[in-house]
Amino acid sequence: MLKVRKVVIPVAGLGTRLLPASKAIPKEMMPVVDKPVIQYVIEESIAAGIKEIILVTRSGKSAIEDHFDSNYELEKELARKNKLDVLAMIQHIVPFDVSIVSVRQHEAKGLGHAVSCAASLIGDEPFAVILPDVLINNSGQQGVDLARMVAAFECDLAPQIMVGDVPLEDVQLYGIVDCGGVQPKSGSSVAIKRLVEKPSQEQAPSTMAVIGRYILPARIMALLAEGKAGAGGEIQLTDAIDALLLEQQVQAYRMQGASYDCGDKLGYVKANIAYGLQHDEIGADLNLFLKTLG
Ligand code: G1P
Repeated sequence: MLKVRKVVIPVAGLGTRLLPASKAIPKEMMPVVDKPVIQYVIEESIAAGIKEIILVTRSGKSAIEDHFDSNYELEKELARKNKLDVLAMIQHIVPFDVSIVSVRQHEAKGLGHAVSCAASLIGDEPFAVILPDVLINNSGQQGVDLARMVAAFECDLAPQIMVGDVPLEDVQLYGIVDCGGVQPKSGSSVAIKRLVEKPSQEQAPSTMAVIGRYILPARIMALLAEGKAGAGGEIQLTDAIDALLLEQQVQAYRMQGASYDCGDKLGYVKANIAYGLQHDEIGADLNLFLKTLG
């Protein structure tokens, strides 16, 4: 059986939608409550059974790699002060059997190009792609939707693309799928006929948008290498998946959880509220506070 053991997480974006906050801090390091956004997506990957995490990064983003590395001075100090619970929290973000490696994207040529930078590390294995701007919240349980996508792929080898409904006025912000008028039920998948990256409202085949989680075969790397620039003059992952449809079935998996676009100011604030309300330490008090705002 072909297992999904690897994930590619593109983290080379500039984060212009979050300026000025993201001027000197990678946007992936912005905290949602008490963890950086990137930690949520890495925990999501691990919860779905992924063992090798490949970050596609760029200069100025080393804080991301540092966050998952040991910090000897801090660890020594926490041990000396007997703060063992905090020590355990920072030591066990990533289990010993999971590795994090990084590769650089030297040019800003789009999402498809970023994914293709990991080609030699993927080899001939299937893999997941997670866009770290998007957090998927499954009622506080991590990795539920991603694990279902992995299981669906491992069952019949059909690549899985996570989708969710968006308002018609937002279709030009997303990859949009055409499933021939069939709507997948939440938590299940249907065959895709076509994908279009950032269509106009008139051209959009549906309002079902690609939401930043993919399970793909290694073959996509060859299609990306052949790919021409698409929407926005960039190499688009959506276009390569559309090309893959000529060779095999690809399915749209409808997410069960709620998605938050943390690359956007409003989405980022909403994520902080949603995750804050679920947080053991502050959830109840935050709920009381929100009620006082009326
Ligand atoms: C990317 C993808 C798009 C997808 C979106 C999800 O676009 O190209 O297909 O719908 O992520 O967030 P971006 O947001 O990077 O412009």
